Amino acid sequence: MKIGIATDHGGFGLKEELLARLKTAGHEVVDFGAHSLDRGDDYPDYVLPLAKAVAAGEVERGIAICGSGVGASVCANKVKGIRAALIHDHFSAKQGVEDDHMNILCMGGRTVGPEVAWDLVSTYVEAAYSTEPRHLRRLGKVEEIEAGKL
Ligand code: RB5
Repeated sequence: MKIGIATDHGGFGLKEELLARLKTAGHEVVDFGAHSLDRGDDYPDYVLPLAKAVAAGEVERGIAICGSGVGASVCANKVKGIRAALIHDHFSAKQGVEDDHMNILCMGGRTVGPEVAWDLVSTYVEAAYSTEPRHLRRLGKVEEIEAGKL
């Protein structure tokens, strides 16, 4: 899978770790930065280009990290077509893709360790979108909200 990854300083170490593991697992990874640790940087500068790339189909899925994952998820969800969520548990990493078509996984570099993060990421990339009518119906309503129709 072609996956994009982005972080600010709050998740820089975790991003480097996950990037290496994803490549070892055979994925193509696009690194949207940060490309070095700068404690004064801002998560929108990295998360927005990632979210735009996911929305444009340039990468299939995204992973966005900041200190808590909150700023990254708030920022990513401002982009039309993005369904980003802050995930801490295995169940949600899987069901968030299946039922809700999550296309950006957000995590906190200060709240999850590398092994838990890798379990979340590998679960996320292995999960597939459901085509169950009830899931599609709900997602259709989300799209209507995004379009200002609801
Ligand atoms: C940066 O210190 C921190 O505020 C940011 O990484 C993130 O946690 C925001 O949600």
